[in-house]
Amino acid sequence: MSIKDIITVPDDTLKKISSPIENVGDKEKELIKDLFETMYNSNGIGLAAVQVGILKRILVIDISGKDEKKQPLSFINPVIKTVSDETSVYEEGCLSIPNTFIEIERPKTCEVEFIDINGKVKNLKCDGLLSTCLQHEINHLDGKLIIDNLSKLKRDLIIKKISKTQKNPNRIIV
Ligand code: NI
Repeated sequence: MSIKDIITVPDDTLKKISSPIENVGDKEKELIKDLFETMYNSNGIGLAAVQVGILKRILVIDISGKDEKKQPLSFINPVIKTVSDETSVYEEGCLSIPNTFIEIERPKTCEVEFIDINGKVKNLKCDGLLSTCLQHEINHLDGKLIIDNLSKLKRDLIIKKISKTQKNPNRIIV
């Protein structure tokens, strides 16, 4: 296992579309271990392979709290099948956009189909933080970032601004 370097904006790799995995072998399993180690090391709750420069449709998530038991979840080739009309808003951060937090509105719940680490097709219904985190990470696989929908001016301002505000319970880093 090893901790990988996380790439950050404005690295163009982050804008690229990741390729699907054809079969889950030792290489993919090793990558998943590395992604978890890298994510935990940076105190993130989600990390996509593209964020360590590997353009494969693999991501990891763990939304457990600091003093809770770890809940590692890995997703290979995840596809969102359904989303709710109801939305929720989180102040999202991103390990690839340091010190930047943006309020993002997303569907509150979603259903995702993916391949697990044993190569089996799975379905998962997600709500709340997990739903938001998963949608954020799947956006990474499609080269999309939380700053993409902002004007250039706003984008530049936000990147410059260092977050100084006090802890917000809805503030997450994925
Ligand atoms: Ni991110």
